[in-house]
Amino acid sequence: MTKNNAAADWWKQAVVYQVYPRSFYDANGDGLGDIRGVTERMDYLAALGVDAIWLSPFYPSPLVDGGYDVADYRNVDPRLGTLEDFDAMVAAAHGAGIKVVVDIVPNHTSTEHEWFRAALAAGPGSPERDRYIFRRGRGEAGELPPNGWKSTFGGPGWEPVGDGDWYLHLFAVEQADLNWKNPEVREDFKRTLRFWSDRGADGFRIDVAHALAKDLDSRPLDEWPDDPDQGHPGEENPLWDRPEVHEIYREWREVFNEYEPPRFAVGEAWVVPEHQWRYASVDELGQVFNFELAKANWMADELRLAIEDGLASAERSGSTTTWVLSNHDVPRHATRYGLPQVKSETHHQLVTDWLLRDGRTYREDRALGTRRARAALLMELALPGSVYLYQGEELGLFEVADIPWGALEDPEAAMSAHGDAIKGRDGCRVPLPWEALDETGAFGFSGPADHAPAHLPQPAWFAGHAVDVEEADDDSMLSFYRRALALRAEMLTAARSTELSWADGYDDQVIAFERPCADGRTLACVTNFGQEGVPLPAGEVVLASAPTEDGTLATDATAWVVR
Ligand code: GLC
Repeated sequence: MTKNNAAADWWKQAVVYQVYPRSFYDANGDGLGDIRGVTERMDYLAALGVDAIWLSPFYPSPLVDGGYDVADYRNVDPRLGTLEDFDAMVAAAHGAGIKVVVDIVPNHTSTEHEWFRAALAAGPGSPERDRYIFRRGRGEAGELPPNGWKSTFGGPGWEPVGDGDWYLHLFAVEQADLNWKNPEVREDFKRTLRFWSDRGADGFRIDVAHALAKDLDSRPLDEWPDDPDQGHPGEENPLWDRPEVHEIYREWREVFNEYEPPRFAVGEAWVVPEHQWRYASVDELGQVFNFELAKANWMADELRLAIEDGLASAERSGSTTTWVLSNHDVPRHATRYGLPQVKSETHHQLVTDWLLRDGRTYREDRALGTRRARAALLMELALPGSVYLYQGEELGLFEVADIPWGALEDPEAAMSAHGDAIKGRDGCRVPLPWEALDETGAFGFSGPADHAPAHLPQPAWFAGHAVDVEEADDDSMLSFYRRALALRAEMLTAARSTELSWADGYDDQVIAFERPCADGRTLACVTNFGQEGVPLPAGEVVLASAPTEDGTLATDATAWVVR
């Protein structure tokens, strides 16, 4: 297969596969996926044809938020392996021509981090507390929170520590927000970036990249309403997407550029499309997630807008954009597309309600969801920029909606009890099925040793999506992903062009565009959202998500036509 990995800008049109380590493959049989599990399955990743893997956090962590509560940034969680296991994994990946991207979580540490323990011990006003965001509570003895800000996961955003001080946590109580005005914090993260770069990491995914810079000092905290966006017109939000955050990434760029080739970074910034480009500019992170595809319904107008936004942001940043259908934070797209499609503002609520009722409120049409997921993949892979795949989507997995409440791990499930209950994100984090028939009952997720049960329960229907079943079936989602990735690499990525022109002559129920191929021909990508068949342009159909007949593309299908 053609590899685009040799060039320094390999990441500009890469296919990056997100590994959620605790649920990928469990080599030691303790029920939790591990680093060795990734090494042992490197052949699978190579056969899939991905350019890079991004590993969600594998650092020591109390696992309150699936590892996004980091207790030690420069180590491996003993349950997931050792630093030597990490080195072996990197060597195996590089041997297979696969780059390695690690996750950096700079907005908050776990409350088990040595800095936070030191902050508690040192008391109010200490330099140790200054690494975090501690403020005096209101009331005579500080018994009331500094203001009414909420955590993203639900409930209050401030937690008292018993001496009149409260600390800010935009996420779980066990995730204390760092103070990025503190020079020690800034230096320590640069040390972490160098630590993993020196160990062979090719790049970084930056968690909650839009929250690091905060301004709590410009006005008294109790002047802010609970939702700071509803606050003072004309003033920047004190917590999110502040202009000063970009200074941090300009400093980081200098660190990335100390390496040859420069280390790559992609920011997770849930900001409006007009603000994405700055994070992605070449003197900052270089790339930022564009979540517009993941937010859009299976509707031509929403998806077209998502594509236009991504392309506009790429043009403005002078970089490339990214395309994402699923990740570890959103319900799987094969399910989203199989539920009733209503405009995006209400669709999120519809899926949330559906999950809350264990998948029993609306009918999930799995055949339809699968058909659309295939069509979406071909459309996504034909776009210029990088594609981020989330583990299990290549198996066509659906969201697991009926995990019992007692088995849920996501802090959202527990914290949302403060307001409207939500089930959270575990339904897309269930351990992968590798073998349909496996006497341990874990679908081959766990290696030979102890066979502890998988850390989240797998449903019986996973058997039909197991890797061994799909490998043996030429029509499976896995076989389709392999074909599509191979063709993309050979025809599109190798052309190294980001040109895209919209194709004319279709109605608004069709998304059609053209891209230059490596061999000088042109690839037309046509997706039909309408009820009627659509005539395909003249040329050779090199791949289609559903059979095409007499040059006609059926509903909910995509075809690649080359001429
Ligand atoms: C990011 C992660 C998410 C995590 C949150 C807090 O959004 O993707 O999984 O819960 O940050 O770290």
